[in-house]
Formats: sequence, structure tokens, C-alpha cells
Amino acid sequence: MDRKKYTLIATAVFLAGLFAWFTILPDGAVIFSEEGCIDCHSFKGRGGSTCPDLTAVTGRRSDSWIRRQINDPRSHNPNSMMPSFSHLSYREISALIQFFKS
Ligand code: HEC
Repeated sequence: MDRKKYTLIATAVFLAGLFAWFTILPDGAVIFSEEGCIDCHSFKGRGGSTCPDLTAVTGRRSDSWIRRQINDPRSHNPNSMMPSFSHLSYREISALIQFFKS
């Protein structure tokens, strides 16, 4: 294979991988239950009822607000009972936000 072709193919594979990395997210519904969000919050009628229902949360909060709430709840409410989930990756939080929009 000549060099030009090889470079072209390598670039295409790289771009496809990059595209997949940003668009194919982990399953937000699984994260919502495995991380225990569901113990406190409900979504579409499933889950705990002690904390705000998250069914329409993306209608009242921006994506970046939600991301911040998950990373550092005390930045919004110093007395928040919600633990910080700063161990979640950017993609995992994106998946949660995607799930809230479903
Ligand atoms: C121990 C209970 C608890 C757990 C577990 C929990 N939260 Fe919360 N969450 C709260 C409480 C209480 C609030 C109300 C605002 C505050 O006090 O920070 C809240 C608020 C929120 C809000 C803002 C809702 C609004 O309308 O203002 C979002 C979004 C949210 N939580 C997402 C999550 C996600 C995602 C997870 C799991 C990764 C999670 N929470 C886990 C207790 C919890």
C-alpha cells in the first residue's frame, strides 16, 4: 500500500474512533441505578421519592448546571444531602444527561 493511501485510511479510522467516542455513550439508565441515584431520585415513576423527581430536570436546568450538580452538589446548596459523584467521567455524566432527556 502506498504511503498516501495508508495515511488517508489511518486518518479516517482515527476520525471514526473520535466520532464514536463522543457520540456512543455508556447507558445512562444503568449508571442511574448502579450509582444509587435511583435510591434518592425517581425518573419517570421509578425510584426513590425523598429527593427531587428528575423526570423533567433537563427542562428546568441546563446541561452544565446538571453536570456541576453531579460533580459538586454543594456548589449549588452548601447543605446538600446529595453526595458528590466527581468520580464519574465526563462521558458518564453526559450519558446521565442524555438519559434525563429520553
Ligand atoms: C443521598 C441521596 C441522593 C443521591 C444518592 C443522589 N442525589 Fe441528586 N439530589 C439529592 C438532593 C437532596 C437534591 C436536592 C438539591 C440539593 O440539596 O442539592 C438533589 C438534586 C439533584 C439534581 C437537581 C434537581 C433539581 O431539579 O434541581 C440533579 C440533576 C441530581 N440530584 C442528580 C443526581 C444524580 C445523577 C445522581 C447519581 C449519580 C444523584 N443525584 C444522586 C439527593 C441525592
